[in-house]
Amino acid sequence: MTTAVSSLLATLPGDRYTDPENFRREQERIFETAWFCAVRSADLDKPGAYRTVQVGRESVLITRNRRGGLRAFLNVCRHRGARLCTEQAGQVRRSLQCPYHAWTYDLDGALTAAPNLTRMPDVDRASYGLHTVELREWLGYAWVCLAAEPPSFEETVMDGVAERLGGDEVIGHYGIESLALGRRRTYDVAANWKLIVENFMECYHCATIHPELTEVLPEFADGFAAQYYTGHGPAFADEAEGFTVDGGAGFARLPGVPDTHDRRYYALTIRPQVFVNLVPDHVIVHRMIPLAQDRTVVECDWLYAPEVVASGADVSHSVELFHRVNLQDFDACERTQPAMASRAYRKGGVLVPSEHHIGDFHTWVTEQLADPD
Ligand code: FES
Ligand SMILES: [Fe+2]
Repeated sequence: MTTAVSSLLATLPGDRYTDPENFRREQERIFETAWFCAVRSADLDKPGAYRTVQVGRESVLITRNRRGGLRAFLNVCRHRGARLCTEQAGQVRRSLQCPYHAWTYDLDGALTAAPNLTRMPDVDRASYGLHTVELREWLGYAWVCLAAEPPSFEETVMDGVAERLGGDEVIGHYGIESLALGRRRTYDVAANWKLIVENFMECYHCATIHPELTEVLPEFADGFAAQYYTGHGPAFADEAEGFTVDGGAGFARLPGVPDTHDRRYYALTIRPQVFVNLVPDHVIVHRMIPLAQDRTVVECDWLYAPEVVASGADVSHSVELFHRVNLQDFDACERTQPAMASRAYRKGGVLVPSEHHIGDFHTWVTEQLADPD
């Protein structure tokens, strides 16, 4: 009798999804070390706009300064450590004032005023600015890195995108940085972030839980995800006019998308916390914000040509397709999460051949957590 054991790979063991200490290590060695896609640049639309985002164990404050540039800081007052901005988003005129004793910082993080400052010569303004965080803009998003010496953005972010899409130039076809936000949905998912990544990477589940998606992308019914291959985009069904919930027409093809990429769907994971979905008339970007070993907030943006959004066109048919996919996927992840703590999953499960590429993700995570030699 032959067995199929050789075609199976082990998953991670269950405690890697449930252990708070393992999650703390992931925060330190992954989310506080890698480039983290924090906010959409256009959400900070004018000087004084700010957002706060949880990155690993830190709250990061991102502002637009008077000159129109983006800056990032640790959201911690230099006086006695109060959270400087307690809201997720806001708008100030020209400075950020701590709600505790009113130390005041300009939009570049410099300490500009404090009660009785002139009578406290030891408080040197230049020494008590906010701690800055490295920030890089790409694809219309602000990516931040908490590492003292950030890894190369080109090598750890951009090269991976080019490799998955089969060329440096492919992501540029979609002009993502100049698209406009058509819709945003935020999902609070009771699952470990790695379950969400693994789920996004495979399509073995597509035939079971994604009836609308497999209708538009019939190849997905076979269980092999776009991410199983390099540079491959499944074709739309012949009868599908667009990437919409009912197969109805979408919008005009984005101007840079070549014929080779028309009527096709591409997807990629940017480690550690971003998914990008590319179709001819729109782009969907997911950003995960892992908050606990069993809780991950996912912000999902549907991006369209600026003229589509400006015209007030109804984007709900395309939004609805991937919104349903998201709900179906996150529901599956939430059903999996409690079972990670079961004795039945102590040693983990198995990856079938169409899931083998998930093993690379597991290897990457394990490497990040390993102690340096
Ligand atoms: S803690 Fe911010 S001003 Fe005192
Ligand atoms: Fe899915």
